[in-house]
Amino acid sequence: MADYDYDVLVIGAGPGGYVAAIRAAQLGLKTACAEGRATLGGTCLNVGCIPSKALLHASEYFEAAKGGAMAAMGIKVTPELDLDVMQGQRKDAVKGLTGGIEFLFKKNKVDWLKGYAQFKDAHTVEVDGKTYSAKNLVIATGSSVTPLPGVEIDNDKGVVVDSTGALELSAVPKKMVVIGGGVIGLELGSVWRRLGAEVTVVEFLDQLLPGMDMDVRKEAAKIFKKQGMTLKLSTKVTGVEVKGKKAKVSVEPSKGGDTETLDADVVLVAIGRKPNVEGLGIDKIGLELNQRGQIETDHDFATKVDGVWAIGDVIPGPMLAHKAEDEGLAVAENIAGLTGIVNHDVIPGVVYTQPEIAGVGLTEEAAKERGAVKVGKFPMLANSRAKTNHEPDGFVKVIADAETDRVLGVWCIASVAGTMIAQAAQAMEFGATSEDIAYTCHAHPTHSEAIKEAAMAVTGKPIHI
Ligand code: FAD
Ligand code: NAI
Repeated sequence: MADYDYDVLVIGAGPGGYVAAIRAAQLGLKTACAEGRATLGGTCLNVGCIPSKALLHASEYFEAAKGGAMAAMGIKVTPELDLDVMQGQRKDAVKGLTGGIEFLFKKNKVDWLKGYAQFKDAHTVEVDGKTYSAKNLVIATGSSVTPLPGVEIDNDKGVVVDSTGALELSAVPKKMVVIGGGVIGLELGSVWRRLGAEVTVVEFLDQLLPGMDMDVRKEAAKIFKKQGMTLKLSTKVTGVEVKGKKAKVSVEPSKGGDTETLDADVVLVAIGRKPNVEGLGIDKIGLELNQRGQIETDHDFATKVDGVWAIGDVIPGPMLAHKAEDEGLAVAENIAGLTGIVNHDVIPGVVYTQPEIAGVGLTEEAAKERGAVKVGKFPMLANSRAKTNHEPDGFVKVIADAETDRVLGVWCIASVAGTMIAQAAQAMEFGATSEDIAYTCHAHPTHSEAIKEAAMAVTGKPIHI
């Protein structure tokens, strides 16, 4: 170690990087973390998971009050939107949590190197004009918005924005056009729809939410339409023209056809994210990118360059905070000579709309490509708690191997699907069969009983339908 300033130097303090740095320090390694952003926590805490959930949560209350859901339970209120206060509590949430990471760095003696790191060689980086060496370097630089060619994003102007700009709008747009019917488009589109915007989602493919189970995608589309979103599926954007504070979005069918123009006060571009590697100097260490611009690693998160590791959004796999965090833990443990493993087959994904949409493991389509399956489904309408809470939308679907009964995938649309999916992930991690879930006692009345009943439906019959 004597030859290096640090045992471990992590580049990027998002959920991947900060977790890797803290775990490395906990394991007794001398650790630093370079971060160029003014606050720690990366995309997730600053402009991603946390601020979006702050607005989703608050706007959900607003809609419940305004839309009559509260009145239906005997709570009569006439809500008035104070967007400044709503945005203030979003900023407070971010401040509190990013400050919390700074506290954890201090507590664990992780040095924060303030600035953007650039490789000089495989064991040396430059940060803000200073050079630091480390035995191990972990690339955790995350991702940023994929631009749409020909469409210029200007978050300051607030007309054509990306997710960061869409979090910071100072007024509710009358008309919002969302380009991309993926996770960001639906979450942030939901926020502004609940607060009063007319939202149109333009999606290139014939369904929303690519990568999710087809039943779930179709049901989600029905629910979003019912909530008042306009969905333009199989449609592509051919141009966005901005005039002052207004935009005109030209769209046509994905396969070609007549052009239509959509008026918008705000256009949100949410067509995916790309790994952050620009300016990192990976060419100087002989590291190449794959076709998707990602850094490839082995199962230990080691790159092909000795002493250089990579985790999170910058490597293949779903771009999710908890995946990055788990890889952060694992890489630190591997660097320390322990065995850090992430089971990439069991990474839950959640869309935090209302109802929430969640899944883990294989879709029914993917499972069928691998062999025969049995599927059990249970509607939330027949779940006593969901029904009592006036939350009838959605279902749970359990997909199991037809021969072994081992659970291959679980999909839920339910008000608390994000919480429910944890038990499915744990069951799959333990190699559970659908029978194991069906014979596990679930507390009553809970939404989670729908998972038990969907599991019962795999081999036999649920009770409540
Ligand atoms: P990041 O969080 O992107 O962090 C990388 C950090 O590295 C950044 O702070 C960056 O400034 C820094 N950096 C980059 N280059 C350098 C350099 N050269 N030197 C120093 N620092 C550098 N995921 C979920 O699981 N749940 C959610 O609810 C969720 N909501 C989201 C909502 C939005 C609007 C967005 C945009 C994303 C959301 N995500 C969510 C995705 C999640 O934010 C990412 O998957 C996660 O942040 C990835 O973590 P990471 O550590 O790989 O990278
Ligand atoms: P996404 O990949 O989820 O969705 C992008 C959508 O845009 C896709 O449906 C795609 O078909 C569509 N699209 C692509 N090009 C298009 C075009 N030219 N015109 C119209 N549609 C087009 O990406 P998104 O929503 O930008 O989110 C990025 C990442 O951030 C996701 O991969 C997700 O993992 C992560 N994220 C996770 C959240 C969560 O876990 N709750 C919340 C928000 C983001």
